[in-house]
Amino acid sequence: MASAGSAVGLGNLWRFPTETGQHGGSAFLIVYLICVVCLGLPVMISEFVIGRSAHVSVGRAYSVLVPGSRWKWVGRLEVLTPFLILCYYNVVAGWTLRYAWESATGGFVKMASSGAGNAYESFFASFVSSAWQPVVCLFLFMAATHFVVVQGVSKGIERWSKVLMPGLFLILVFLVVSALTMSGAAEGLAFLFKPDFSKVDASVVLSAMGQAFFSLSLGMGILTTYASYFNDDADLGKSALSISAIDTFVAILAGMFIFPAVFTAGVAPSEGSSLLFIALPNVFQSVFGDLWILSYIVSLAFYLLLIVATLTSTISIHEAVTSYLVESFEWSRRKAATVVSCLCGSIGVLCALSIGAVPELTIGEMSLFDAFDYVTAKWLLPMGGLFITLFAGWRLSKQILLSEMTNRGTKSFALFKLLVFAIKWFCPVGIVLVFLNELDLLSF
Ligand code: PFF
Repeated sequence: MASAGSAVGLGNLWRFPTETGQHGGSAFLIVYLICVVCLGLPVMISEFVIGRSAHVSVGRAYSVLVPGSRWKWVGRLEVLTPFLILCYYNVVAGWTLRYAWESATGGFVKMASSGAGNAYESFFASFVSSAWQPVVCLFLFMAATHFVVVQGVSKGIERWSKVLMPGLFLILVFLVVSALTMSGAAEGLAFLFKPDFSKVDASVVLSAMGQAFFSLSLGMGILTTYASYFNDDADLGKSALSISAIDTFVAILAGMFIFPAVFTAGVAPSEGSSLLFIALPNVFQSVFGDLWILSYIVSLAFYLLLIVATLTSTISIHEAVTSYLVESFEWSRRKAATVVSCLCGSIGVLCALSIGAVPELTIGEMSLFDAFDYVTAKWLLPMGGLFITLFAGWRLSKQILLSEMTNRGTKSFALFKLLVFAIKWFCPVGIVLVFLNELDLLSF
């Protein structure tokens, strides 16, 4: 459940619709699904095998399995990546707090009754471009994450996520059902499901691969770290399958209400963050007509649950970096977590300002926020995945792989040969080809 909690987060509800909208809808979805099955699953199983056989967090797992080798740098890369992700992930995490607050105080209900068609749009624009609001929200969210990580990953959050994740799921189903009754439903669903292969190009493949890694929390050692806590009879294949299935299902459900809502609200599907933060509040207020109390409840419930889904993810990202510092430098948990929170929080402020108050904060043509997202999700995560599969396929002994997959020979694993082929050949070659293509060194 904790791994699923890490996987399900803003990646499903904010990043997936954004990426899908920007890369042609259905074309992106198909490539994404292929990436989840062909790359995501083998990489996830490799992370599980490495974590459970090493029994330490990712920063040290490689040194434990092959002492004195350069593979330790892969462990370090897998700590750097979550650090960079946390810096900008927290910005959007903070937005969820602001939206929950606006829902709770009835702000959205008021906007609906004001009758101004673009009220939600101006609210979002003025919020993100404010110099202080996104920063305060970011700090609050970071503080909540920090609090949990300092305590150790508490039983509380695990217990709560078992209740709240199904809650999120129910709300999603409800939203999908209501989205299907909207005027833009047919157009929205066609955008998401009607295959149009002419839109598949190199950048779609790179983005889909990055999204698969991001959404499944792969390529940065988080699942390696979590797997070091798995007990000996956990079924790695089944766990990987169910985490991927839950995560993908939530992403598709998100698409199934976001796109009908987007077409109904008249927002262009390629407008990124505005999908979740403009189209959605609009929908909450419009589906129930005069029954404003229902709009109020659903909107509040949704943003609260979004906070929970996001928190289980930020905790896992923070934990990966903190546990590395604790193990490697023998710092106390409190000290390590404080260093991570302060550094990520400070860089996060710059990311937050780069999309609003200080647009001069850019790297190349991108805002700092977009640059962090681009470098980590599209490059560092797949690169982590590449090294993970190279390690599991070529460096780790096949006996360890077999023994982990069969729980020391106590059960059979029918697709073992196929899995080994995917880990050894398919994933590394596939990832490298996508990279080469993106760098224009190949032209498909
Ligand atoms: N998988 C999470 C999501 O989809 O929101 C995000 C995430 C969690 C990314 C943990 C990376 C990570 F290590």
